[in-house]
Amino acid sequence: MEDKPAPLLGDMVINGFRWPPMACDDMPEELRKFKVRHDDVFIVTYPKSGTHWMTEIMKNIVCGGDLEKVKEYGHTIPLEFFNLFKKYDSFPTDKPRVMMTHVPVDILPKEVFEGKGKVVYVGRNPKDTAVSYWHFLKERRYLEEYEKWENFLAAFLKPDMMCGSCYGKIEIGFIIISVMCGSWFDINLKYYEHRDAKNFLFLTYEEIKLDHKGCVIQLCDFVSRHMTDEQVDLIVNNTTFSSMKSIFTGELPVDLNKQLENLPKLEAIGDPNQKFSVLRKGVVGDWKTQFTVAQNELFDEIYNEKMKGSSLRRRILF
Ligand code: A3P
Repeated sequence: MEDKPAPLLGDMVINGFRWPPMACDDMPEELRKFKVRHDDVFIVTYPKSGTHWMTEIMKNIVCGGDLEKVKEYGHTIPLEFFNLFKKYDSFPTDKPRVMMTHVPVDILPKEVFEGKGKVVYVGRNPKDTAVSYWHFLKERRYLEEYEKWENFLAAFLKPDMMCGSCYGKIEIGFIIISVMCGSWFDINLKYYEHRDAKNFLFLTYEEIKLDHKGCVIQLCDFVSRHMTDEQVDLIVNNTTFSSMKSIFTGELPVDLNKQLENLPKLEAIGDPNQKFSVLRKGVVGDWKTQFTVAQNELFDEIYNEKMKGSSLRRRILF
């Protein structure tokens, strides 16, 4: 029998919050102080909610659909990894910075709440998010504990059950498992509270799937970019699942390695030739192929309880 591959390095806990191994201790405090530019755009999500999709749409918008210009942006990775936000200080001032992050709302740069920059939050129904997340972590072998779907799902549903001193952990038998970036409910409900702020736009993955073009038009308006009809069509076309699949080839992009050059903990993400696959199926409702009836019933029970009284329920489509 073939030896099972060793898991990659474990993740870490900062500020009572579990992060992938690429996070640095001083990140929350430092990121809060990040100097925001008026034309900055932050793409914020709970992991596996369409972060790369929205980032690609936004880069296309600020580049008027010109793929050569989009390429100049290179590949984007979350601000919080390796404290990359520090590198953004030297980003050219002649074009907007399009940045992605999964940080909870209380770690987002303070200046955002003073109206500086723009935030696009993308939510996704939690059942598809959980399935997508599980596949992603399993493939990357972050931790062996993620290998079993039922273990992962239990942690995803109840990350606020405290275990030890660490938020985001749950104990099942002898295994301690946890979901990185905390609770889907906490993150989404807290960002949703900001939906009416002038510099926030709250969209969902399902809304973009339903009306890709309408969402592109809404996003152009949000960042005050006037586009011709042709440009809007081009942007939609450049950001379909199949177009993006051909751009995100599966190899870790060279420029990503460049961005990470000389940063500590590079080894923590493991094999540099590791496949980089953020595009898997790209559909709504894949959870139906994964959940058992009992898992779905338990999920609905917890979902109904946590979402009680929030109008966010009306935006979440399964
Ligand atoms: P699935 O795993 O369900 O396929 P993130 O970028 O936050 O990691 O999200 C990844 C999810 O977004 C994956 O979901 C991926 O397939 C989906 N996705 C990425 N680009 C997409 C696109 N252009 N259209 C539809 N879904 C897309």
